[in-house]
Amino acid sequence: MMRPFAGPWRTLTALLAVAGPARLAVAYDLDPNSTESVTSIAKNMADDLLSFYKGDEPGQTPGLPPDPYFWWMGGAMMGALVEYWYYTKDDSYVETTKRGLLFQVGKYDDYMPDNQTLTEGNDDQGFWAAAVMSAAEYNFPEGRDDQPSWLGLAQAVFNTQAARWDDAHCGGGLRWQIYNWNKGWDYKNSISQGTFFSLAARLALYTGNDTYADWATKTWDWMIDLEFIDKWWYVYDGAHIPNNCTEIVPWQFTYNSGAFILGAAAMYNYTESDEWKGRLDGLLEGAKVFFRGPNNDIMQEVACEPVDRCNVDQKSFKAYLARWMAATIQWYPDSYDRLSPLLRASAVAAAAQCTGGANKRMCGSKWSTQKNDGSEGIGQQMSAMEITLSCMITKRDPILTSDTGGTSEGDPGAGGSEIGRSRNGEPPKKDYPPMTAGQRAGAAILTTIVIGLLLLGIFWLWLDETSDKGPLDQIRGLPSSAAAAAAMVPIAGAASSSRESQFMSEKGPGVQTAAEAGTTPVEEPVPGVAAPAEVKRSSVARHSRRASNMPLGWPHNPSIRWSVAEPGHSGQSSSRESTRGTDDDEIRPAAPAH
Ligand SMILES: *[C@@H]1O[C@H](CO)[C@@H](O)[C@H](O)[C@H]1NC(C)=O
Ligand SMILES: *[C@@H]1O[C@H](CO)[C@@H](O)[C@H](O)[C@H]1NC(C)=O
Ligand SMILES: *[C@@H]1O[C@H](CO)[C@@H](O)[C@H](O)[C@H]1NC(C)=O
Ligand SMILES: *[C@@H]1O[C@H](CO)[C@@H](O)[C@H](O)[C@H]1NC(C)=O
Ligand SMILES: *[C@@H]1O[C@H](CO)[C@@H](O)[C@H](O)[C@H]1NC(C)=O
Repeated sequence: MMRPFAGPWRTLTALLAVAGPARLAVAYDLDPNSTESVTSIAKNMADDLLSFYKGDEPGQTPGLPPDPYFWWMGGAMMGALVEYWYYTKDDSYVETTKRGLLFQVGKYDDYMPDNQTLTEGNDDQGFWAAAVMSAAEYNFPEGRDDQPSWLGLAQAVFNTQAARWDDAHCGGGLRWQIYNWNKGWDYKNSISQGTFFSLAARLALYTGNDTYADWATKTWDWMIDLEFIDKWWYVYDGAHIPNNCTEIVPWQFTYNSGAFILGAAAMYNYTESDEWKGRLDGLLEGAKVFFRGPNNDIMQEVACEPVDRCNVDQKSFKAYLARWMAATIQWYPDSYDRLSPLLRASAVAAAAQCTGGANKRMCGSKWSTQKNDGSEGIGQQMSAMEITLSCMITKRDPILTSDTGGTSEGDPGAGGSEIGRSRNGEPPKKDYPPMTAGQRAGAAILTTIVIGLLLLGIFWLWLDETSDKGPLDQIRGLPSSAAAAAAMVPIAGAASSSRESQFMSEKGPGVQTAAEAGTTPVEEPVPGVAAPAEVKRSSVARHSRRASNMPLGWPHNPSIRWSVAEPGHSGQSSSRESTRGTDDDEIRPAAPAH
């Protein structure tokens, strides 16, 4: 209930700030070539990141981020701190990181803690696994002897997820959710496949065990078969089971692209095959869609950032593309000339806008606009820190494997006794005995209260803070605006069938299409570029609070519009993008209806 009131407060704070010494704020002037500059700025960014974290305080839970963040963000943040240590060797946060990573393992040491069964998805578990996998690859200090090893934890997550591979629907893939009582159980999303794929690929590289590589290949093939990765190497968000995953939710997010880049880089390094090189080159080409600004070299969350629609999860995604592109330079050194300019330009831009907050150095979420957008949070801080660190990637130690000095001890059967506990949607009965009548009545009352609060919340969210009409006047206006929004749904749905014709690609010379490298038939590539979403401001789905890291407005956000760049004009500025997309035939589909 706090959020609706944040607007006026922020305005007030902003006004006070303008009146005060705010204009004296000095932005970070990052020199990406200087280790000293990178480490000192990253140190400040890390300190400011930790200012959001309370997990070490008395009575708090290690590893758990504060409201409004979900559990997975704790894993993402611990991962960022592992990166911070790898790049800087500053051990200020090593104990905090270890404590967080080891506290959340759950009773089977596989990142399925009981407290999270109402929200945990495969992707969420996957972000914790990504963090411990990095810890293994960097020889990050291990926990006590009686605690699980980094590698063992990563293997445990792999084992539980491989056991959940769901051939019964859409020909394979992981569901988004682990537990069938959670919203999103019927969704198969790219990030769940992406975290599993990259984990499998990294385990193959680290351990030399081909079983992991086979799972990575299987996941890749499924993504290509279903065209979750299309022939232009764009990675879309996912699709729903009821229509056999045929209606693809067309959002492109940096983390989806990043997760597949990471896995493909590990597979390339492991196999040294032209096949994986071609796939990796293609994905890197596809990821150019996320680099905008005057020189198309500043990372942007194109689906939501230009129109101020990114939620707290999405504001962290750039951290992972930065982290995983940097790892790609390690595993595929030939990509340096292509990736380094993008990472460096983005880092300079990211650092330059860290002028927010009381200390005048908090990072906002928009790098390509040259000014702080007034937002701050774990995601913003993590993203700016990781892109800054990435400038030093070639000066860091190689990523280790068990053959090159990695010492984390494996446990190939980890999580073993529990591999099947959620298989095919069976809830973990052992942990959850049937409810008694009393519990059920209690649950019903609780549900009623929750729904009541939710409706109240929706009402407040719907109220337009900026409107000068009072609440009652706004209620009177509701039927007409709701009807208008509903009317747009079929239009958006109809537009989805012509996705291909609108969704054009800028395909550089010498890059194989996904179809060429994979098994699907070759089709002619289309010139052009997929342009970011244009969202018409509306009260629908504002401030929406989601159960996990799904696209904003999911499953329907009828107000999302997409614009299409003319071929050869992919370098349009974000200000231009946000004024485009006003024709109805340019509406990009929202997610299909259930
Ligand atoms: C960093 O080094 C590169 C290559 O050595 C050079 O082209 C670039 O101008 C340098 N950047 C800065 C900010 O000094
Ligand atoms: C689970 O929640 C309880 C109650 O808040 C807390 O005491 C405990 O530390 C939590 N465990 C984990 C692993 O988060
Ligand atoms: C569902 O999709 C999968 C994967 O594309 C395919 O193999 C399967 O035949 C489809 N099933 C139906 C009933 O269309
Ligand atoms: C694989 O990664 C290692 C370590 O980062 C690197 O030295 C090697 O050149 C990479 N192999 C290929 C084929 O790029
Ligand atoms: C390779 O990994 C698989 C899957 O975890 C495991 O069953 C197998 O025992 C491993 N093989 C070796 C030689 O460690």
